[in-house]
Amino acid sequence: MIFSRLKPRVAAASTAAPRKRRGYVVDTIVALAAAAVLTYLYVNLITWVEMSTLVPWAFAPLPVGSVLPTGWILGEMQTMAQGMAGHEYDFYIYVNESRWLQGPGNGGTDYSPLNEALPYWFNGLVPLAYLIDNNRLKGQVHTAAETVLNLQTEDGWIGPEIPSDRNFWARAPFFLGLTQLAEANSTWEKPVVGALRRFMDLTNTMLRNNSQGHAICPPHFQCYWGQTRVHDLIVSIQWMLENHPSTQDALLWENMNMFYDQSDYKWDDWYQPGVYQKVVDDPWITNPDYPYLHGVNAGQGLKASAVVRRFSHNDSLIAASMTAVNWTFEYHGAPSGTILGDEIQRDLAPHMGSELCTAVETGYSLAYLYHALGNNYYADRAELVIYNAMPVMMTGDMWAHQYLDQPNGPWAVVNTEDYSHPHGPFLFTTAHSGAATTFGMEPQYPCCTVNHPQGYPKFVTHSWGSVGDTGLAHVLLGPSKVTTNLATIDCDTAYPFDHTLRYTAVSASGLDLYLRVPSWYNPSTSTLALDGSLVALQPDPETGMHKLPLPAGETMVTYTLGAAVRAEPRANGTVAVYFGSLLYALDVGSANTSSLPHAFDDARGTGLHDLPFPQVRDYYVKNTHKWNVAIDVGTLEYHGMNEGEGLPTPVFEYGAPPNYITVEGCEIAWELYLGTPGDVPQDRTCFGGKETFRLVPYGSAKVHMSELPVVKL
Ligand SMILES: *[C@@H]1O[C@H](CO)[C@@H](O)[C@H](O)[C@H]1NC(C)=O
Ligand SMILES: *[C@@H]1O[C@H](CO)[C@@H](O)[C@H](O)[C@H]1NC(C)=O
Ligand SMILES: *[C@@H]1O[C@H](CO)[C@@H](O)[C@H](O)[C@H]1NC(C)=O
Ligand SMILES: *[C@@H]1O[C@H](CO)[C@@H](O)[C@H](O)[C@H]1NC(C)=O
Ligand SMILES: *[C@@H]1O[C@H](CO)[C@@H](O)[C@H](O)[C@H]1NC(C)=O
Ligand SMILES: *[C@@H]1O[C@H](CO)[C@@H](O)[C@H](O)[C@H]1NC(C)=O
Ligand SMILES: *[C@@H]1O[C@H](CO)[C@@H](O)[C@H](O)[C@H]1NC(C)=O
Repeated sequence: MIFSRLKPRVAAASTAAPRKRRGYVVDTIVALAAAAVLTYLYVNLITWVEMSTLVPWAFAPLPVGSVLPTGWILGEMQTMAQGMAGHEYDFYIYVNESRWLQGPGNGGTDYSPLNEALPYWFNGLVPLAYLIDNNRLKGQVHTAAETVLNLQTEDGWIGPEIPSDRNFWARAPFFLGLTQLAEANSTWEKPVVGALRRFMDLTNTMLRNNSQGHAICPPHFQCYWGQTRVHDLIVSIQWMLENHPSTQDALLWENMNMFYDQSDYKWDDWYQPGVYQKVVDDPWITNPDYPYLHGVNAGQGLKASAVVRRFSHNDSLIAASMTAVNWTFEYHGAPSGTILGDEIQRDLAPHMGSELCTAVETGYSLAYLYHALGNNYYADRAELVIYNAMPVMMTGDMWAHQYLDQPNGPWAVVNTEDYSHPHGPFLFTTAHSGAATTFGMEPQYPCCTVNHPQGYPKFVTHSWGSVGDTGLAHVLLGPSKVTTNLATIDCDTAYPFDHTLRYTAVSASGLDLYLRVPSWYNPSTSTLALDGSLVALQPDPETGMHKLPLPAGETMVTYTLGAAVRAEPRANGTVAVYFGSLLYALDVGSANTSSLPHAFDDARGTGLHDLPFPQVRDYYVKNTHKWNVAIDVGTLEYHGMNEGEGLPTPVFEYGAPPNYITVEGCEIAWELYLGTPGDVPQDRTCFGGKETFRLVPYGSAKVHMSELPVVKL
């Protein structure tokens, strides 16, 4: 093309001064041709480099083990290790007798053909074991990893399925566990990477063969589940590319592209005007959009577009990610930071339930989004969901958990209302077992028993990130200690129960310390001091990060965030009350009875009496104070921790956190609906007089009211 266009000019020039000019013309042709070829190569080189390089992180995650929990969050994680999470491998049949530990076709147990119980447990227990350095749990995850990897089939499949039964989904959480193990302990690098390579070769064959196991699965249900969650598998492929580059890289790129292209469910297609459902008229599993509407899938899917952008280099996915998060919380968000979805998202009704699985998956997605894209909104929301929505659903000792939490759930008992609504407004809060909101071993369904342990460990790992070779960023605030080649930094704090963070940094070379400033901070009462000298706090408007250069040697940084009580409007004339990253709920008191634990499919039977741990029980919790209360937001008053006061362990036990808020309010008439508080009444006539009520951190208020009607007293 280029040569033919040059021809006429060459011909014209040659008539004037043939010899000399010919040399000039030839030179010109050669130069232009060379330039064209170079341009062509350059453009293709850029495209090639781009298409074989992952988009860098805004704040690169650190390997598991670089960030360790300290203070109250270490106490929470140790409690988790002593509770249900830390004993599942000892007795919980979906873990200790999992199909994954038996080999293809050799029996074993799981609660569904998705075979996801052991993978979920492994994904949470690997980082839990390493972050608190618990040898008993390390031994368990090592044995499980060794057993599963030794059972890898000749053709490379990992997991219990026979060839005709294969579907990719449950590999995603298992591989996330494997990659965390390889990061935490270099002894595991070689076996993990080797096994994943063999698996990825097989994956390539399967996807090229009519998308076996991805678009084609024996029960189709398994396939679309895997498709909505496929980005969780792509995360592990990207981990291989980033940490263990090899001659297999081109195949890994092909696998990422095929996984995405061969999915019928793509999250960037869902969050489009006219497609996305702000209110869901048919909240039932026959809804064709069920894979998008399921609360847990939505929580996982929030990060999907950011994962895809890392390999597609499509920057439209930055805005698509924001749309996904913003719409999800605008139309289906709970005040505690989780997604309302009683199996399926419906609307914003404060009696709508939300799964514990949804809370932990939402927390992981939001942390990932901040690391990938660096927008402060994601980090604020990651703290919100992990500091509120997750702990409220577990008893203080973490032996028992809820399947569903309701923003307005003043009791957690077996619901004896008409639970036979096959197409009722709720799927589970009142349907099926009636036990979804009780605290127990596996109320309603076992998935959250095995999936909840990832919540704290992933949060802690993502709480710091690196910025180039010279910076470390405190991304999710809380007590922690980070160690890298650059520095060791210890953050001593009771955050989010108190807002002073004291850092001791030791660095041979000096570094840039980045401190995240949450969007709720009050600039006039917040302070930052480096070795006692005040520094003006200047957060970046996008990331929220304040950059603080630290000299070599030991330095002390004191960072205090000022805050004010916030009453954020919710539907139907209600508010949710916050101070900092904590949501405060009406303290409705607490009294409980308990029973033997029930199998999920026998919620009304006599219970299991032969389990080896007497701590495993089901709890039924009732309120002991008024719940039908309207408040006057003008009277909200915060009462923080006293100077020198410590935090108890476990901190999210009912009555444990020292912080509270007082407010004046009164009782109003409030109808029940299917056994729980119905729509918020518009009539705010007080009966009885004005009283002072107490609001407490939501995570500690296992039964609670968090969307409170407003009244002017
Ligand atoms: C798994 O735990 C149960 C108790 O819940 C126990 O009876 C069983 O023997 C255990 N299985 C194995 C393989 O250890
Ligand atoms: C790393 O894994 C190996 C193999 O399981 C184990 O022997 C070793 O104790 C582990 N190291 C640490 C620090 O946990
Ligand atoms: C393609 O998939 C089908 C169905 O599972 C299987 O029978 C066949 O052997 C596969 N072909 C290859 C080349 O793997
Ligand atoms: C980039 O992503 C946007 C948003 O999902 C999509 O509309 C567009 O088609 C994508 N572009 C390419 C080149 O794939
Ligand atoms: C979504 O974005 C709109 C417009 O920026 C904003 O007003 C709203 O508060 C956001 N919603 C949430 C839940 O953050
Ligand atoms: C608000 O109340 C009306 C009826 O009083 C009800 O139909 C609607 O669902 C309520 N909205 C929410 C989000 O609870
Ligand atoms: C049940 O009550 C006991 C005694 O007050 C308390 O220690 C325990 O935390 C309560 N359990 C739940 C689930 O509320």
